[in-house]
Amino acid sequence: MKKRIVLLPGDGIGKEVMNSAKEVLSAIAEEFNHTFNFETHEIGGAAIDSCGTPLPDSTVEACKLADAVLLGAVGGPKWDQNPSHLRPERGLLGIRKALDLYANLRPIKGFKNLLHASPLKEEVISGSDLLIVRELTGGIYFGTPSERRENGQVVVDTLAYTRHEIERIVDKAFQAAQGRRGRLASVDKANVLESSKLWREVVEEKKSQYPDVAVEHVLVDAAAMKLITNPTHFDVIVTENMFGDILSDEASVLTGSLGMLPSASLNESGVGLYEPVHGSAPDIAGKGIANPLAMILSAALMLRYSFELNNEANLIEDAVQAILDSGFHTGDLKVENGRKVGTEEMTRLVVDYIKSQHASKCIASC
Ligand code: NAD
Ligand code: IPM
Ligand code: MN
Repeated sequence: MKKRIVLLPGDGIGKEVMNSAKEVLSAIAEEFNHTFNFETHEIGGAAIDSCGTPLPDSTVEACKLADAVLLGAVGGPKWDQNPSHLRPERGLLGIRKALDLYANLRPIKGFKNLLHASPLKEEVISGSDLLIVRELTGGIYFGTPSERRENGQVVVDTLAYTRHEIERIVDKAFQAAQGRRGRLASVDKANVLESSKLWREVVEEKKSQYPDVAVEHVLVDAAAMKLITNPTHFDVIVTENMFGDILSDEASVLTGSLGMLPSASLNESGVGLYEPVHGSAPDIAGKGIANPLAMILSAALMLRYSFELNNEANLIEDAVQAILDSGFHTGDLKVENGRKVGTEEMTRLVVDYIKSQHASKCIASC
């Protein structure tokens, strides 16, 4: 299989973990006889520095022509005081909008050997396996640009959703639940927000089309509490953009670290974008200690969803499982009695596993 993959490393640890994903994908290409042509483009702070904008047109064009896009992370203190249109995060929001990536899938599954790495009790998080389906191109992130009035003392952000925007993400979530354990929690704030009332109406209307899915409505504040007190309650969670952002960082605690969560951002039929849930982690950038697994697992999601290369995706996920089971971990994971490694060594372990496992399977089947 021949594929064109656009890499958007971005800033901070985004660059470091992107190198890891590229190495792992190169190993997959070599072992399975695929050709992955990588093309690197600028986004975020790096693009501001080199092109004067967080999302150059050339980056958007390259993404549109790609078979899939991998993104590291954007942002950093260097650009924190920039005006809104010159913030790195604008680049990220811009590429999501330009590719109409409205469905952000964030799977959260605890690895067995990391149960004790979470500050939560093992018996609470054991068996948790959920999927957050986050609406990604609407809501308060994309309302009328914030304004400041009355000498900057009054600010306005607007939260807008159309029925169509809600319908398409709710459909995605019902379909995801059908392929999993058949349970959908729709998270909103319908006791206060008009947008949430419409959201709830749409979910109620849609549920007759998916009779095999059990639906419940959960208010976002209660959902935040249940997520860490009774996470096994959840299968699929569907929610609007901002709630999904917040709940997914919270849910990362179930896995032991934000550095473990991958994500897939999908549209109707075009190019998909895959990125870790975490940011550019300025506090550890440049130290070689970032956990590359969220990025590597995002590359696995790309192989599965964009290229239907399930064996290849499974092999990457098996590699991560086996390495963690052996006690290897990066410093963000509070693992007892394991061996702490840096970004490069963790990447090497994944690559070596892929090469050794695949070679032994070939020998066995020949
Ligand atoms: P962050 O996700 O970058 O970091 C939060 C904490 O988690 C930090 O202590 C960091 O060291 C740790 N962490 C995150 N990923 C890690 C990894 N792979 N390995 C080890 N530790 C990891 O969030 P923040 O500090 O609030 O934001 C920093 C910058 O990143 C901001 O500019 C923000 O806007 C941006 N950001 C970007 C994205 C994205 O590009 N998708 C996502 C979130 C935040
Ligand atoms: C994420 C990030 C982004 C978001 C920021 C950097 C704009 O937090 O991908 O989760 O809020 O969507
Ligand atoms: Mn976030």
